[in-house]
Order: sequence, then structure tokens, then C-alpha cells
Amino acid sequence: MLSQLDALESEALSELASLGEVAALELFRVRWIGSNGRLRDAMNELKSVAKELKPAVGKRLNEVKAAIESAFEFKRVALSAAPAGPAIDVTEPGLPAGEGARHILTKTIDEIVSVLGRMGFAVADGPELEDEWHNFNALNIPDGHPARGHHDNFFLGGEVAGKLLLRTQTSTVQIRAMETMAPPLKICAIGRVYRPDTHDATHFSMFHQVEGLCVDRNVSMVDLKTTLVQFAHAFFGPEAEIRLRPSFFPFTEPSAELDMKMKIIKNGVAEWKWIELGGCGMVDPNVFKAVGIDPEVWTGFAFGLGIERVAMRKYGIGDIRLLFENDARFLRQFA
Ligand code: DAH
Repeated sequence: MLSQLDALESEALSELASLGEVAALELFRVRWIGSNGRLRDAMNELKSVAKELKPAVGKRLNEVKAAIESAFEFKRVALSAAPAGPAIDVTEPGLPAGEGARHILTKTIDEIVSVLGRMGFAVADGPELEDEWHNFNALNIPDGHPARGHHDNFFLGGEVAGKLLLRTQTSTVQIRAMETMAPPLKICAIGRVYRPDTHDATHFSMFHQVEGLCVDRNVSMVDLKTTLVQFAHAFFGPEAEIRLRPSFFPFTEPSAELDMKMKIIKNGVAEWKWIELGGCGMVDPNVFKAVGIDPEVWTGFAFGLGIERVAMRKYGIGDIRLLFENDARFLRQFA
């Protein structure tokens, strides 16, 4: 009986070794390990073994059973782990995953919002498709004003559209903020504006502005200038300077043009230059009246800057069109 068990074991193990596919495993299991299998037959035969031999034969039978079962388990794992397709060389270097980065304009915008945020300006928002009230009348630009002509604005066509246009300035958000919030308020707004300009190195029909508005009691030109100086220092560094030149905007009185002395990079050389960045001034009483704020009680300052100008100067970009062409080779320089 013991030699029969040896033969049984080696037959089972060699049959198992010859199996090449997962599908054959089940047949093997039924034939050897299953409830009507060869191991069960051997156990049944144990009954007829002489009493004194039983312990030795029983022990050997258990060993054979354990050997076959563990070999079967080993084979099962080995066969199911085998790759289905052609082998892959996992040490082969892969294709580099292209890494994205923020667009240089987005970066500039994030920086501006962060500086203004630290200075206490909350972010306000308004639609790019505007009505004439918010883009003109409420900003003290009356009907018939030359700035409202069709050559200077993108009006929507058709009767239904009425007098809707793509906003030409983020000053519209001043009006929307004052219509919805009671003073005192301090907000900034960043967004796209649209003008029918012919595209060249310094003009594009869509660009971005940042607007600031502060309304409180006893706000003066000093507050405006201090705010702009702080902004320039935070954004361009402690050496940055600003200067205000008298100017005119319908929605501010007095009004000024804002120049910043900036380190600009030209042909790889850095130099400091006065650059015109936008306009500013004290909120005109007519604007307050348009939104129902009493100009006898409240005062305010406002400013509006072109973001492409800021970005182009700060990063030495000579052509505004580069910012909108999405040429990855250009954008990658600033990643
Ligand atoms: N909205 C003006 C423009 O687009 C810029 C501007 C000037 C904004 C004076 C202001 C301001 O808030 O006070 O040219």
C-alpha cells in the first residue's frame, strides 16, 4: 500500500506538471482531489489495510494528499498569473507625460487678485454681455456720446438683442457692485473686455482689465494714490514708482492717467521705464446718483488697468498676439 501511495503521488505530480492552461486545472481537480477522485479512493482503501499498518499508511496518505493539494494550488496561481498577451518589458522607458502649466495671463491675474486681496479688495464679477445702462449711462456716458458709436463697440445684431453689447470696460462691475451692495465697499473685478480694434503688436479685440473701487466716507485722492503705490510695490517690487497725470474719464472727477515705472526687459537688458497702465480717479457724483448712493455722504476712488500691458511689461513680451495664439513653445517659457 505504501508503494502504491508513492506511485499515486508521482503520477499526480507529473500530470500536474504537464498541465499548460488554466482550463485543464478543473479536470485535474475532479480527477484527483474531488469527492470521487483518486485520493478519495485511496482513503477508502485505508479501511481494508491491516490494523497494525494503518497508522503508517494513514500518515503517508495525508502527506500525499497535502503534497498534491499544495502543488495544485501552486500551479493554479502560476497559470492564472501568466500574461495573456505578448510579454511587456516593464523596464522600457515610457512616453513622457506632458505636464500642463498655468497660462502666463492666468498667472498674472492670480498675482493681481492675491495682491489686491491682501489689500482688502473683495472680488466682484459681472457679465461680459452687457446692457447700455451698465456700460455707458450709469457710468456718466450719456446717449449720443461718441464712445457709444458702432465703430467702437461690439453691439449684438437683430431687434431682439436690443442694445446689448460685449462690455468695453470692467467699469461696468463698479455699477453692478454698487447696485447690489451698500457702502462702504471695496471691490476689485477682473475680466475680459472687447473692442473692435485691428490686431497688431499692441492691440487685440479682446483683452483683460482689472478694476478697483473703494466707496466710504471721506475717501480722498490720497487714498487712491496710496493704494496704487502699495499695489505697485507688492506687484513689481519695492523700487517701483507710480505717477498720476491729469486726464478725463466720464465716471471720475478728477481723473488721472496712471503710469508705473517698471523694470522692463528689452533685448535681454533690464531698464526702468514709465509705462501707461490705465486710468483712475475719484468717483463722479453722477455715478453715485445713478446707483442711488448719496454723493453728499459717500466718496470713492476707482481705477482700471490693462492686464496684458502689465504682463507684457513684467515678462518682456513684445507682441500681444502671442498671448492668444496658444503656441505651447511660447507658453512653456513661463511655465
Ligand atoms: N474704464 C477705463 C478704460 O477702459 C479705465 C478706467 C479709468 C477705469 C478710470 C476706472 C477709472 O475705474 O476710474 O479705459
